[in-house]
Amino acid sequence: MSKKDSIQNEVKRLTEERNLYARLLEEANLQFEEKVKELSLLKRTGDIISDTFDIESFCRNLANIIIEETSAENCSLLLKDHHTESLILKVACGKREKKITFFEDLKKSNVIFSLGEGVAGKVALEGKAILIDDVNNDERFDHSRKNHVPIVSLLCCPLVLQEQVLGVINLSNSQPHAFSHNDMRAISIFSAFATSILSNARLYKETRDALEELKKTQSYLLQSEKMFAIGQLAAGVAHEINNPINGIINYAQLLIDQSDGQSEKAEIPNRIIKEGERVAGIVKNLLSFARKQEEEQESVLVHNIITDTLSLVKKQILKDGIKLTVDVPADLPKIKARSQQLQQVFMNIINNAQYALNQRFFGFHEDKLLKIRGEIIESESSNLVRTTFYDRGTGIPASIMNKIYNPFFSTKPRGEGTGLGLSISYGIIKDHGGKLWFDSVEGEYTKVIVDLPVDNGWSLERRIIPRKDAKRK
Ligand SMILES: Nc1ncnc2c1ncn2[C@@H]1O[C@H](COP(=O)(O)OP(=O)(O)O)[C@@H](O)[C@H]1O
Ligand SMILES: [Mg+2]
Repeated sequence: MSKKDSIQNEVKRLTEERNLYARLLEEANLQFEEKVKELSLLKRTGDIISDTFDIESFCRNLANIIIEETSAENCSLLLKDHHTESLILKVACGKREKKITFFEDLKKSNVIFSLGEGVAGKVALEGKAILIDDVNNDERFDHSRKNHVPIVSLLCCPLVLQEQVLGVINLSNSQPHAFSHNDMRAISIFSAFATSILSNARLYKETRDALEELKKTQSYLLQSEKMFAIGQLAAGVAHEINNPINGIINYAQLLIDQSDGQSEKAEIPNRIIKEGERVAGIVKNLLSFARKQEEEQESVLVHNIITDTLSLVKKQILKDGIKLTVDVPADLPKIKARSQQLQQVFMNIINNAQYALNQRFFGFHEDKLLKIRGEIIESESSNLVRTTFYDRGTGIPASIMNKIYNPFFSTKPRGEGTGLGLSISYGIIKDHGGKLWFDSVEGEYTKVIVDLPVDNGWSLERRIIPRKDAKRK
């Protein structure tokens, strides 16, 4: 080989070597960039740990990071709802709109996957990430679903904690092959990180809710102490009023006696007596309401209990512009009951109806109705006196229907409801061998039905029956 040839060979070898190193360097560079990306993703996830305590800000931060750090054009987070075993869209975000939408409750989110359904459903079911380069050539993708954004590439990763899937993260792009296996790896690591933050945020929320509940219990205890004191006070005041009112009635009677049958002279004292008797009636009801719970059972007419209850609340009901109709015949059979307890039940039902009506209608409205109806329901096994309270107030959403009897469950603002009314009422009616139930359509009406058996097996011979005997059916 000539000298020239050997130099040429050497140059060729060196050129090849240089090209090889250049390629290796380029690859290393790419890998380095990937690592930097991964690290940046993780660092930013780490950053949100320190200031994320609620699920909403966690979800928002997460979506934001993904959009900024990956090639996703759109990103969404779906969380598993444990009651319905389905995935519900919690947060959605797009690179173009730069707007993050957070869905507070289930109703507002219209994207729901059942487990196993679509790519997200499969990922949630199997707990394994899925990467699709082009959904048009992939049957795992549910093509029948309408998507708000154009999806061609898709990367879907599960959020797994202790082998339980909490949700999935979806990344999509309108171009094919937008995500690499490296992306999948990075998002999987990121998801693991995100899952533990999410679970902490959930724990934090649960702890906060428990604390809230505890505070409510405490404030209820205070409230019931206060109610007891007010009861005592009311009883004292009622006693004080009783004597002078009797005096007033007696003096008015004297005036009538002195009027020698002249009707114009007797008119005013007659009015005094009428009004005075009204005051005496209210005082009597107040006294019986404030009296202690250890109450005797007696044979009572639902008609009378309704009348007594209404005498305490009717004024305010009418003042609120509520049209009240009462049809509880006085000739329905008597029932054995503790009348003050029943009065307490009816009072709570009426208060709830009044509140719901005032919530729905401000001032007067022709639908602002409360109808109270009494009837006898006869059957072979037993006869019932049924009292129905029908109001056209806000109605009760189906989603809370099974919670309203729970102690402390209330949709009223703090200070306006204790959430105890129905749980106590339910107990009282059950104790009377009866049934209390609801029929309601949100935004339309609420019906509260109280069924009391004519013969609940209670005997009236022993005047005071210990509570556990009274529980007998
Ligand atoms: N007539 C009604 N209309 C609408 N909602 C009602 C009605 N009665 C009861 N509710 C619902 O049931 C909940 C529980 O009632 P209750 O146990 O009496 O507690 P509270 O009145 O203190 O809220 C109420 O907060 C309300 O959401
Ligand atoms: Mg109530």
